[in-house]
Amino acid sequence: MKLSLLVLAVLAAAASSAPAHEARRYILNHNVKRASKQMSPSRDQSFGAAYFITNEPSGNFIVAADISRDGKLTLRRAIETDGLGSHGTTKSAGPDPLFSQGSVKASAAGVLATVNAGSNTISTFSISPNDPTTLKQVGKPVGSGGEFPMSLAINEAGDSLCVLNGGSVNGVSCFKIDQTKGLSSIPNTTRSLKLNQTTPATGPAGTASHIIFSEDGRQLVVAVKGTPPQPGFLAVWDISTQDGSLSQDFKSIAPQPGGLLPFSLTVIPGKNAVLATDAGLGFDIFADLSGDKQDTQSNNTRSSSAVAIPGQKATCWSAFSPKTGNFYLTDIGTSLVTEINVNDNLNGTIVKQYPTANNSGTIDLDIGSIQGNDFLYVLAANATAVDVFSLDAPGQAHHMQRLDISGPAKSVGLVINPDNLQGMTIFVKKI
Ligand SMILES: *[C@@H]1O[C@H](CO)[C@@H](O)[C@H](O)[C@H]1NC(C)=O
Ligand SMILES: *[C@@H]1O[C@H](CO)[C@@H](O)[C@H](O)[C@H]1NC(C)=O
Ligand SMILES: *[C@@H]1O[C@H](CO)[C@@H](O)[C@H](O)[C@H]1NC(C)=O
Ligand SMILES: *[C@@H]1O[C@H](CO)[C@@H](O)[C@H](O)[C@H]1NC(C)=O
Ligand SMILES: *[C@@H]1O[C@H](CO)[C@@H](O)[C@H](O)[C@H]1NC(C)=O
Ligand SMILES: *[C@@H]1O[C@H](CO)[C@@H](O)[C@H](O)[C@H]1NC(C)=O
Repeated sequence: MKLSLLVLAVLAAAASSAPAHEARRYILNHNVKRASKQMSPSRDQSFGAAYFITNEPSGNFIVAADISRDGKLTLRRAIETDGLGSHGTTKSAGPDPLFSQGSVKASAAGVLATVNAGSNTISTFSISPNDPTTLKQVGKPVGSGGEFPMSLAINEAGDSLCVLNGGSVNGVSCFKIDQTKGLSSIPNTTRSLKLNQTTPATGPAGTASHIIFSEDGRQLVVAVKGTPPQPGFLAVWDISTQDGSLSQDFKSIAPQPGGLLPFSLTVIPGKNAVLATDAGLGFDIFADLSGDKQDTQSNNTRSSSAVAIPGQKATCWSAFSPKTGNFYLTDIGTSLVTEINVNDNLNGTIVKQYPTANNSGTIDLDIGSIQGNDFLYVLAANATAVDVFSLDAPGQAHHMQRLDISGPAKSVGLVINPDNLQGMTIFVKKI
């Protein structure tokens, strides 16, 4: 498809006398001409939105793209977060600046939150239900309760958010979400991971990665990568059902032998178990988050495991498709997407691998269910692009779009850098 003119509209803070800082907004729109000729306004064609962050140290922006009925993306807007991005300290600079999954997160209830790793804050927005790339900031950015915030989790009810801090002051902290006022701290939820880290974090080995709520909502789970040969671990806190406070200390759960660098965490539905990508191996299955050595409730048919993906370089990000029942994992080194099936006994096997272009630097990903069809959205950071796959059936994912980010960003003066882009989260409109 030929791109028609790229239209620029910068709605910047106008009056220099304005008392408060007003967020810069850019409109990135490929299809103004075509859309304006159609009977229905373009926003009615939107079935949801995909969001990621620029994570620029000079100013972090959320980039939002519309999802159409067929799952395809159209870049639409970039919105300043009123916070700064950051890049962790590494031997050689490259994509995945926060060493994490979940840096930006949308809830089904219509709240979008992002970390600002360079200013130790979280910014919160309300998503316009009809036009989900339109975001309105709610409240001011709040302190993350630590340094180098890298990952966010929002609970099923959409009323509670927890952040993972990975810098020299590391650990977790939780907040109540108010759709109009923003975030307020939940007492007694700031807990340390006791990592010997720096701000920005030094990694990727030895850094924190991802935070999620367990499937039953009673535990908060964090993945921490090892420092070879020392393997990493999951840190698990119990959440009080009375006041939402966290247990004083976390339980530490080691991966099975061979597991080394647990990175992303994806719930295995119906099992209260977790699949973790493992950058050193492939993936780890944690059958039991209670920290007990054995799963005492079964005849050991459900066991934890560490599974190799042959030829992998760094398998770090994961998501689950309700339609296919399978997991999709990305590898920043091979630029392959790997589909994994986990059976009732929690035995995980490789179903198929799908290429993107080599050197794409495929990092964060998320899956959206649009009108009964599932689509996979992969941030190909090194290619400054988003790859879209339709997940038609188990073993049948089809690459259907590569969305360019750099051209439209350049045309409106939005600063992006392949090494700083991070995050991917999907919001689906209720229709
Ligand atoms: C923390 O890490 C630094 C840098 O690797 C090291 O010099 C220091 O000894 C470590 N401190 C502790 C308490 O392990
Ligand atoms: C904080 O939480 C811990 C663990 O749940 C509990 O033992 C302690 O009493 C709580 N402290 C306050 C001040 O509520
Ligand atoms: C263990 O196996 C036995 C025999 O197959 C079965 O009757 C029993 O229900 C199993 N126990 C659990 C907890 O699954
Ligand atoms: C998992 O499935 C694979 C392939 O079917 C099989 O070879 C392996 O023995 C199974 N592992 C366990 C622990 O059941
Ligand atoms: C991509 O990389 C793989 C592994 O190095 C190689 O086998 C393949 O030929 C490459 N593909 C292209 C199109 O260069
Ligand atoms: C990113 O692209 C550059 C230039 O093509 C390449 O040298 C580098 O290896 C790529 N990095 C990743 C992580 O793909």
